[in-house]
Amino acid sequence: MDNRPQWGSRAGFVMAAIGSAIGLGNIWRFPAVAYENGGGAFFLPYLFALLTAGIPLLILEFTIGHKYKGSAPLSFTRINKGSQWLGWWQVGISFVIATYYAVIVAWAMSYAVFSFKQSWGNDTTGFLVGEYLKVADPGKAGSMVPGVLIPLILVWIVVLGILFAGVKKGIEKANKIMIPTLVVLFLIIVIRALTLDGAVEGLNTFFQPNWNTILDGKVWVAAYGQIFFSLSIGFAIMITYSSYLPKKTDLTNNAFITGFANSSFELLAGIGVFAALGFMAAQQGVPVDKVVSSGVILAFSVFPQIINELPALNGLFGVLFFGSLILAGLTSLISIVETFVAGVQEKFHVSRTKSVTIGGGLAAIISLLYATQGGLNFLDTVDYFINQFGVALAGLFEVVFIAWFAKQLKPLQNHADAISDIKLGAWWRICLSIITPIVLGYMMYDNLRQNLL
Ligand code: PHE
Repeated sequence: MDNRPQWGSRAGFVMAAIGSAIGLGNIWRFPAVAYENGGGAFFLPYLFALLTAGIPLLILEFTIGHKYKGSAPLSFTRINKGSQWLGWWQVGISFVIATYYAVIVAWAMSYAVFSFKQSWGNDTTGFLVGEYLKVADPGKAGSMVPGVLIPLILVWIVVLGILFAGVKKGIEKANKIMIPTLVVLFLIIVIRALTLDGAVEGLNTFFQPNWNTILDGKVWVAAYGQIFFSLSIGFAIMITYSSYLPKKTDLTNNAFITGFANSSFELLAGIGVFAALGFMAAQQGVPVDKVVSSGVILAFSVFPQIINELPALNGLFGVLFFGSLILAGLTSLISIVETFVAGVQEKFHVSRTKSVTIGGGLAAIISLLYATQGGLNFLDTVDYFINQFGVALAGLFEVVFIAWFAKQLKPLQNHADAISDIKLGAWWRICLSIITPIVLGYMMYDNLRQNLL
């Protein structure tokens, strides 16, 4: 265990954790989730979820990794021999996410290049599904889409190259460059978007509170779901990253910084996206709510339209926007792949080079599936099931196991308190042993009801 890699500095770890947290979820998921679940009123459940589940779970995962010095399967085994499966399950979810997350980053790469000439033309959706992804050509389903293939290979070269270089020289260094760059690029986008005609309308639509929704269980489920995905908790990632921390570090403070940095970026993304949507609505003479969208459509169909309509320097705006998606995506992808690379390495006692080659190589090969004609439909389905079942269930088992079966909350609290400035009170244990399991349990029940009934 002595030769376990270590972060070069505390800032390096925090940057990597923030890099994992800030991802596509912040940019293309949060704005629409907030808007659809009460706009300005959504911030109440959202903040509540951040404080009762997000940050407490981050503290928990940071402390588990730090205390047990292993990726999730090893750390859970050290807590209780029978619970290795839980770690592998989380690692498995990360693996699946990695296979399609890489593809989305690859699309962003292509679109960054397309931005120069707006190669997508006027019918951006037609270009996306018909020409670029070739979804609407079932006759050829399964054959490779050449436009996607090259960027996808490039993504894997970058990610695996960084992982080969190791924790300090690879992951830490990459995040220390990519995250500050991302913040600068994104700030430029937001400022530009705010100066466009219609931006104010967009912001009004985003922040307009709809208090009627506040008592709706669905809104609370959405808030917790967003926090879990956005903070990368329940995926074994934060456990792996914190296992590389040196003995002395302020775990609790690290978690607060990560949580607040992620939410700040999320808010910034909401402002930028809605200002841009307000501009587009004004150009087309329709109300803003008619153009709200999220995910693949927002990024690869609506944003290209916005870019088309910009009065000046639209190519540059496109490069900044897709560049941000690439950076946010890459730093998250690195963390997801590292999670199973570390798991494989510890389980089979192989070198880092071997586990990156085998684990990362396998994920890369599987990701080729989504680069085929019709791959988008496949991606959508996998993403849906991972979000509906994988995430909440893995998080639920984690808190129930730690709090109720292994009864680890008190020892973990002592561990964190001994090295952290902020001392954890009973509130922390109550959040994890009672509030979070109830919410996650309800989330699971709700998902099952929606899907099965
Ligand atoms: N947190 C990242 C986001 O907001 C996504 C992610 C999910 C990263 C799961 C790692 C694991 O997009």
